Amino acid sequence: MKLFDVYPLNPIEIIKASGSSVWDADGNEYLDLYGGHAVISIGHTHPHYVSRLTDQLNKVAFYSNSVIISLQQELAEKLGKLSGKTDFQLFLCNSGAEANENALKLASFYNNRKKIIAFKGAFHGRTSLAVSVTDNPKIIAPVNQTENVTFLPLNDEQALENAFKEFGNEISSVIIEGIQGVGGIREASQSFLQKIRTLCDQYNAVYIADSVQCGYGRTGNFYAHDYAGVEADIYSMAKGMGNGFPIGAISISPKFKPWHGELGTTFGGNHLACAAALAVLEVMEQDDLMKNAEEVGAYLISELKKFEKIIEVRGRGLMIGIDLPEEYSHVKKDLLFKHRIFTGEAKPNVIRLLPALNITKAHADQFLEALRIELN
Ligand SMILES: Cc1ncc(COP(=O)(O)O)c(C=O)c1O
Repeated sequence: MKLFDVYPLNPIEIIKASGSSVWDADGNEYLDLYGGHAVISIGHTHPHYVSRLTDQLNKVAFYSNSVIISLQQELAEKLGKLSGKTDFQLFLCNSGAEANENALKLASFYNNRKKIIAFKGAFHGRTSLAVSVTDNPKIIAPVNQTENVTFLPLNDEQALENAFKEFGNEISSVIIEGIQGVGGIREASQSFLQKIRTLCDQYNAVYIADSVQCGYGRTGNFYAHDYAGVEADIYSMAKGMGNGFPIGAISISPKFKPWHGELGTTFGGNHLACAAALAVLEVMEQDDLMKNAEEVGAYLISELKKFEKIIEVRGRGLMIGIDLPEEYSHVKKDLLFKHRIFTGEAKPNVIRLLPALNITKAHADQFLEALRIELN
């Protein structure tokens, strides 16, 4: 049997990893500033993470949501504390798409409406509703096409106001990334997020903050959206949450009252996933990783802004987009194969940095030096 060939692959197999280093089968070491797509939040094979997961594996790895799993409550408390949302409620699932799927569904149950506002450049996942609110017709199958989604330009307050004026009483939710990832590291402006909050309040619509990529401390705040000083109704998260163990979640405002059977999942919130997520939060808290993300990120951004050949540096903390001119489209590959540094990309020509939250200034300098050589 062959694999279903949907991924363009780099010809590298990673067989060992530690912190922000990974090694290929030939023993070559790479600096990982991609984190397997913003997933590695506390560094590969972090000792606390390994021991918490190993301990849990030796006790019980899985039982279904038909019994008490006290690790879930422990996780809810810790996540509530670190995110500053102690009065919110946690629903656990397995991925970012599933988190958004549940957020959109919950919003629709809440106000009994169907229409959703999403934004140009958005990526929210590949399951049915999550892909319907993703601005990429190529990955929306005919069965996922719906009249219920309206895409508006990001940060266009007038367009948002017009949409609410026109059909505000039919809008169930507005879903937005704090910083668009796949869209090329484009930040939602603070006044735009404030406007979403105001209009959602006015029309009883639900503000969903997709924090799958930009959340979980990456920008220095637990949720990037919260820089705007207003709270969302639902935050979706995944990626960095389990440092590689599949887990996703939504953090839900107290105004939503659950009923039995409203949401559900077989694997979501299992013992191993909770242990992984707790290990991540414990390391984040103990090592003050949000502060580190803010500081090393600010350093990287200010240094990158000094490069003349870069068109624009975008982002916040350790979610950084480096917009390069067309003639430097080879740089990402050169960073990987000549300098052994993993980075991400966004179309058409943006290098994305999504490293672990505990990278050091020395890691940042290693990258800056390699980039200096390539842009000379
Ligand atoms: C902002 C955002 N939302 C949702 C998703 C989907 O997450 P997953 O791939 O875990 O389903 C992604 C994945 O890249 C993302 O970047």
